[in-house]
Amino acid sequence: MEKNFKRTTVTSALPYANGPVHIGHLAGVYVPADIYVRYLRLKGRPVLFIGGSDEHGVPVTIRARKEGISVQQVVDRYHSLIKDSFERFGISFDIYSRTTSPTHHKLASDFFRKLYDEGKFVEQVTEQFFDEQTGRFLTDRNIRGECPRCHNLEAYGDQCEKCGATLSPEELINPYNAETGNPLVKKATKHWYLPLDKDQPWLEKWILEDHKEWRPNVYGQCKSWLDGGLKPRAVTRDLDWGIPVPVEGAEGKVLYVWFDAPIGYISNTKELCDAHPELGSWETWWKDPETRLVHFIGKDNIVFHCIVFPAMLKAHGDYILPDNVPSNEFLNLEGNKISTSKNYAVWLNEYLDELPGRQDELRYVLTANAPETKDNDFTWADYQARCNNELVAVYGNFVNRALQLTQKYYEGRVPECGELSDFDRQTLAEFSDVKGKLESLLENFKFREAQKEAMNLARIGNKYIADSEPWKIVKTDPERVKTIINISLQLTANLAIAFEPFLPFSSKRLRQMIAMESFSWEDLGSTTLLPAGKQLPKPELLFTKIEDEVVAAQVKKLEDTIKANEAANYKAEPVKETIPFEDFEKLDIRVGLVKACEKVKKSKKLLKFTLDDGSGQDRTILSGIAQWYEPETLIGKRVLFIANLAPRQMMGLESCGMILSAVNFDGNLSLTTTMDEVKGGSQVG
Ligand code: MF3
Ligand code: ZN
Repeated sequence: MEKNFKRTTVTSALPYANGPVHIGHLAGVYVPADIYVRYLRLKGRPVLFIGGSDEHGVPVTIRARKEGISVQQVVDRYHSLIKDSFERFGISFDIYSRTTSPTHHKLASDFFRKLYDEGKFVEQVTEQFFDEQTGRFLTDRNIRGECPRCHNLEAYGDQCEKCGATLSPEELINPYNAETGNPLVKKATKHWYLPLDKDQPWLEKWILEDHKEWRPNVYGQCKSWLDGGLKPRAVTRDLDWGIPVPVEGAEGKVLYVWFDAPIGYISNTKELCDAHPELGSWETWWKDPETRLVHFIGKDNIVFHCIVFPAMLKAHGDYILPDNVPSNEFLNLEGNKISTSKNYAVWLNEYLDELPGRQDELRYVLTANAPETKDNDFTWADYQARCNNELVAVYGNFVNRALQLTQKYYEGRVPECGELSDFDRQTLAEFSDVKGKLESLLENFKFREAQKEAMNLARIGNKYIADSEPWKIVKTDPERVKTIINISLQLTANLAIAFEPFLPFSSKRLRQMIAMESFSWEDLGSTTLLPAGKQLPKPELLFTKIEDEVVAAQVKKLEDTIKANEAANYKAEPVKETIPFEDFEKLDIRVGLVKACEKVKKSKKLLKFTLDDGSGQDRTILSGIAQWYEPETLIGKRVLFIANLAPRQMMGLESCGMILSAVNFDGNLSLTTTMDEVKGGSQVG
């Protein structure tokens, strides 16, 4: 499959402009894409790195309604926030534009029109849910109704969050508009479909046979889509935000966001090349078979980039297809799912503000822990450990030793390299392998392992200085020490090159510290990067420690978000209607002493209590709190129960009464008890 391409077009998924970018986006898409692009540039290979905001679709409209501002205001706000934070973080896009740009509207519209004119779509009229009062069709997520399974009245058109059922809007009982509460009716509407079923044969060959080298997660997801049989997909929507469908009789309809957004890659390339003629025509980057197209995406985008977009490009006819689609799995945060809508994330803009100058620390940790083959977890404890034990203690430490010794012994001048010892030769041989290893890992999108290799260079350096102990022989064998320091400095210069794609900020600082003005990837492995006699400036620390307080503050911020979300979900039950005192008196509430407590067989919920109720006879009560208590821990405790409730049969056992527990606002149950020790059978009232 090795093909020699002349140039590479690298795209990274266009983030929705409905919120800031978070570490999940960075780890999944932007950091790996940036490493790859920086590497290609260092190699001197022609490459364009295309980015931009995805400003259409339902998510931005939901955000607008939530914040009470216009959709345009939402996309303006988040587009600039995202663009600015990418820049501060060193994501080195050649262009970061937006899908609301005039260039994009025209290109996407023309793209659709060409397919339409050539009869590449299938037209179909279907019945969709419609709100007569607002005059709008609704998307699945904007429809609510009663769940046919658990009768939760607020189930969504695609899922019931109470019982977890996957639903379609048709299944809901009494569907209504989630935002207005208006009842919905079915109404006929016409849409255009891409007949993917017809693409099945060539897609099967192209992916399953010709692209066996794609990552297993990507290949596997494609295979299961293909095995399931592709179906036609609608590429238009009834919505008032988006690119109007350029066809007569399509008023009120727009291109589906997943039709227009990937075309955004092309539009943004065009915008870039039109402004920079030296880059050549945009068409070379999208239509010349000698151009390699690579899409960096997250795993929820696989089907769109591996099946739908290629089908669109093929239907159009002039375009190349992606050569690889390196997609990552998901990154979790402190064991929980990252969520934009729940505000649970480490937001890039906040990170940059709160931990200024620490871009490379985050880049390092996200790559070291990249979810390349499986979902991974980001924790602040791991962040701190990796920064302090690896960046500071290994990389920073080696560089600092080499530079400090140069200052101390030679007033900052690079010493001559004399005759090499066996140990020198062995060390140099070890690190001359690194270039080849790094290249093959990077070319194969194995960024995590590649960064490890770069770090290995620093480990080699640390071992070299520690084992050759120049401070012990500086008086007795000054010639030997010159050689040791020279070699350490050459290693340092190599580190600045090897880490450039991964940690561009510290690489740049390191280059300043060793006064290395120009360099290229091909220099990697060279032992003559810093000529003897070169004067180096006073060194600074390359990395500094992350203190405990910094990490604790970040963890607390996340915990506060979780608490705030729980509180927001809590709806106080309204107080029930007033009753006369006599009604209360009918209840016989008592204290029961737990004599025995055990799990009920085959039930996940029930515990069987044997209570001393003061009568001298054991009383059995079943209670649905097994999820919250280990039965053994309850023996000897007092609980409150209703003694005169008619007995009930449950799981083949008789339950005589009901044990009282409180329902916390997070849904957790807590048993009730008395403040002091009272006898079993005492009345409560
Ligand atoms: N906005 C989409 C998301 O965040 C990604 C769009 S990628 C593109 O999941 F191909 F459409 F550009
Ligand atoms: Zn349900």
